Amino acid sequence: MPVDWSRSTLAHLRSVYPFHTAAGFGERGVLLGSDVTGGFRGFYFDPFEFYQQRHLTNPNMIVMGSVGFGKSATVKALIRRLQAVYGSGRYLAIIDPKGEYSTVAADLGLAVIKLFPGEGGARVNPMDPGSTSNDESVIARQTLAAQLVAGVLGRELTPLEDAVLSWGIETRCRANQAFTLADLHREILDPPDELVRLSRHTPLELARATSPVTFALDKLCSRTLRGMFDGPTTVHVDWDNGPGVVLDLSAVYANSEALPLVMVAATHWLNGALRGRPERRSVQVIDEAWAAVRHGAAYLQGSLKLSRTYGVATVLVCHRPSDLTAQADDGTASSKIAAGLLSDIQTRVLLRQPPEQIAAAVEMFDLSERERDWLSQLVQGRAIWKIGARTAVVQTVLTGNERKLFDTDSAMSSSGLGAGLGERVG
Ligand SMILES: Nc1ncnc2c1ncn2[C@@H]1O[C@H](COP(=O)(O)OP(=O)(O)O)[C@@H](O)[C@H]1O
Ligand SMILES: [Mg+2]
Repeated sequence: MPVDWSRSTLAHLRSVYPFHTAAGFGERGVLLGSDVTGGFRGFYFDPFEFYQQRHLTNPNMIVMGSVGFGKSATVKALIRRLQAVYGSGRYLAIIDPKGEYSTVAADLGLAVIKLFPGEGGARVNPMDPGSTSNDESVIARQTLAAQLVAGVLGRELTPLEDAVLSWGIETRCRANQAFTLADLHREILDPPDELVRLSRHTPLELARATSPVTFALDKLCSRTLRGMFDGPTTVHVDWDNGPGVVLDLSAVYANSEALPLVMVAATHWLNGALRGRPERRSVQVIDEAWAAVRHGAAYLQGSLKLSRTYGVATVLVCHRPSDLTAQADDGTASSKIAAGLLSDIQTRVLLRQPPEQIAAAVEMFDLSERERDWLSQLVQGRAIWKIGARTAVVQTVLTGNERKLFDTDSAMSSSGLGAGLGERVG
């Protein structure tokens, strides 16, 4: 049938072909909800399946959105269904700063380690060797110690401070001795002759130059990390056959000075244990990750980079774009931190943002005009999923049982955590 040439706009043309939808991502992974821009077909996801299918070149995720719009619920639905579909093929490790994963943990059979300051509670030792090769574990412990000390001092370490700290750790590791942060403090307080000679300082000069490090280690052991990370590990976790573990940090959630350091130490300890088991895939969730970025951006970045080597997908949960930029206080340029972290996170799940955050989100995630409009209108549980170079709008659909299990509204009001969070949105 001959048809005359005519010109039209896309706005008119779409009425000619109303059933046109995005291509979708296939049905590998777990059913998470409904693909709104894909004709409401099922949306399936698993970071490792997507990696294998080359939708992604790394398995890490970031989930960002205003309080109460369903970040944690989406993550909980994902891990719960990953366990249902993959069983022991997906080890689940969760950093839980608000103590809101206990019902999910009970449901999934995850071990819960609740850390609290003071004597008598569970302890984990961030200086544990972990399960990787010795060299790598030494470097990881050196990086962690430097970040913790820099966090206490509020500045980067001088080359001499850094060298002495690293040396202390290396000496202990070389001796194949288990040690703790408290041991490290003693080592540096009373440096052996060999170190004094290497430093080319007199003992007095060296003691003066490194006194900020000993002060910081003392503060970490006697206050910030006391009773949680200052002694040998007292808990036993079945890393090989268990379903996973939750580190409940809610006892320090209200302490804004300690929380970032506690989160970095906890993440480091988990990482050490998760690596070195290449036959198994792990999903490591860092909820309320903004607190860890504050002192641990460099640490997190290193950990994200190793995700492919060790089969660990890290899921960072944040509120707003500035969580990744405004808080670095170790002198690193903030834009560099955000770019560094995001370059290793290819799955970006963006829930609703308030109007004042839209411009920053557009810039950070390179959103189109249409995505910008969506971002301020997304309803609870609905998110823009940017997966590699492609985008979908996905509604996470919870079962009735999950709504009860994931309900943070009642959990927050009964534990009193709701007060003080301020910006809760309905
Ligand atoms: N997709 C959804 N369907 C139904 N309820 C949801 C959904 N997402 C979140 N909720 C409910 O909204 C409340 C807040 O969600 P939550 O995930 O804790 O928010 P946040 O973004 O602060 O982590 C919870 O009680 C949760 O059960
Ligand atoms: Mg949450």
